Amino acid sequence: MVVEEPSGALRLVGLSKRFGAVTVVDRLDLTVPAGSFFALLGPSGCGKTTTLRMVAGLTEPTGGRILLGDEDITRLRPYRRPVNTVFQSYALFPHLDVFENVAFGLRRRGVPEVAGQVRRMLSLVQLDGYERHRPEQLSGGQQQRVALARALVNRPRVLLLDEPLGALDLALRRRMQGELRRLRTEVGGTFVHVTHDQEEAMTLADTVAVMNAGRVEQLGTPAELYEFPATAFVATFLGRSNLLAGTVNGRSGDDLLVEAYGRRFSVPSARSRVDSGAVLLGVRPEKVRLVGTAEQVPAGHQWLDGTVTDVGYFGVSTEYSVRTGAGVELSVFAAADGESARIPAGSPVLAHWHPRHAFLLHHDPHHCLHHCLHHDLHDDAAAAAAAAAAAVRAGRE
Ligand SMILES: Nc1ncnc2c1ncn2[C@@H]1O[C@H](COP(=O)(O)OP(=O)(O)O)[C@@H](O)[C@H]1O
Ligand SMILES: [Mg+2]
Repeated sequence: MVVEEPSGALRLVGLSKRFGAVTVVDRLDLTVPAGSFFALLGPSGCGKTTTLRMVAGLTEPTGGRILLGDEDITRLRPYRRPVNTVFQSYALFPHLDVFENVAFGLRRRGVPEVAGQVRRMLSLVQLDGYERHRPEQLSGGQQQRVALARALVNRPRVLLLDEPLGALDLALRRRMQGELRRLRTEVGGTFVHVTHDQEEAMTLADTVAVMNAGRVEQLGTPAELYEFPATAFVATFLGRSNLLAGTVNGRSGDDLLVEAYGRRFSVPSARSRVDSGAVLLGVRPEKVRLVGTAEQVPAGHQWLDGTVTDVGYFGVSTEYSVRTGAGVELSVFAAADGESARIPAGSPVLAHWHPRHAFLLHHDPHHCLHHCLHHDLHDDAAAAAAAAAAAVRAGRE
C-alpha cells in the first residue's frame, strides 16, 4: 500500500488542562518524533487521556499549543486534524457492519472508491471474511482490530491509541502487542500509545514518556529509562527498584561516596542525578546477588547483610525478600540458571552489587511516590461495560 511519509514532529508546548480548580495536565512539553512509536506511560488519573483528547481536538486546552510539523493545530476542528483515535472502549458503530465501520471515515470525506481500501485494511488486521459481521458478533480482540482498521484506513499522520488493549485478557493482549508493532511497520506514520502498563510501553515503543500528576518525569528509550531512571517515581513505576536512603558525604575519583544505614557505598558520578545532600541509592533487583559469607562477595562489589524473609518462585526466576540489619527490605531476582541452589527463607545472606549498576537520585522526603492513584472513572466504566458485554455474549452461547 502507498504510505505517506510522515512529515514533522508532533509537539506539545506548555500544554495545560484545568477542570475547575484541578490542574490535570500541567504545562506539558513533549516532542513526538515523526514516524516514531511513542508511549505515554503513567498511572491511572495522571492525565494521559486528557492529553490525547487535546491532541485529537476533543478537549479544549486551558493553555499551551499543539504543533504538527510547522502547523499550529491547537484550535483546529477535530475532523480537520490529520489525527485518528482508537479508544479503549473501541466505540464501534453498533448498527453498522465491519465493512461500514471501516468505510465510515472514507465515506464521510467523499472518497469515491472505498471498497478496495477497506478490504486491504481488513486483510492487514486479519479480518478478511468478516465484512458483514456486526460488532456484537465479534470477540474483544476482533473488535479491537476493527477499531484499528477504522482509524488506519484514514492514513492519519498521527494515530492516537488510548489503552487500546486494556479490555483484552493477558494472552490476547500480548498477541495484539505484536500485531501493533507489525502494523506500525507496515503503515508508517506516528503512533502515540497511552497505557498504564509499563511492560506494554517498553515492548512496543521506541520512545517512552513517563507521566506523573500531569507532568512528564522522564522521556527516553525504554532501555535509557530502565537503566538510569531520573526520579524515584520512574525507578519504581518502570520495573522495580531497591531504593536506599542515604547522604552524599564525599567523592573519590569519578565516584560519589554515599553513607546509608551506617555503611559506605559508591556510585559513579555519571550514574548520579545529584551530587550532594539527601539521596536515594537505587539498584534493580536483578542486579543484586545473594551469598552466604563476606569472602564470597566479588572484589569491587558492595553489600548489605540480612535475612531472607520470603521466597517467591516464578519458574524463570526466583524473587527473594531480604530484610537487612538496617531494617530496609531488599528485593532480589535470581534467574533460574539451573546452577545456583534455592536459598530457603530464614537464611542469613549478604546482598551484593557492583557500583556500576547503582544509580543515585534526589531524595525528597516529602515526596510521595505514587501521588496519582485516584480512580479512573472512565477506564472503570469502560471495563465494566466490556465485562457486561462479555457476560451477555457468554449467556447467549
Ligand atoms: N471532563 C472532566 N471533568 C472533570 N475532571 C476530569 C474530566 N476528565 C478527566 N478528569 C479528571 O482528570 C484526571 C485525569 O484524567 P485522565 O486524563 O482520564 O487520566 P488517565 O487517562 O491518565 O487515567 C482525573 O482525576 C480525572 O478524574
Ligand atoms: Mg485514561
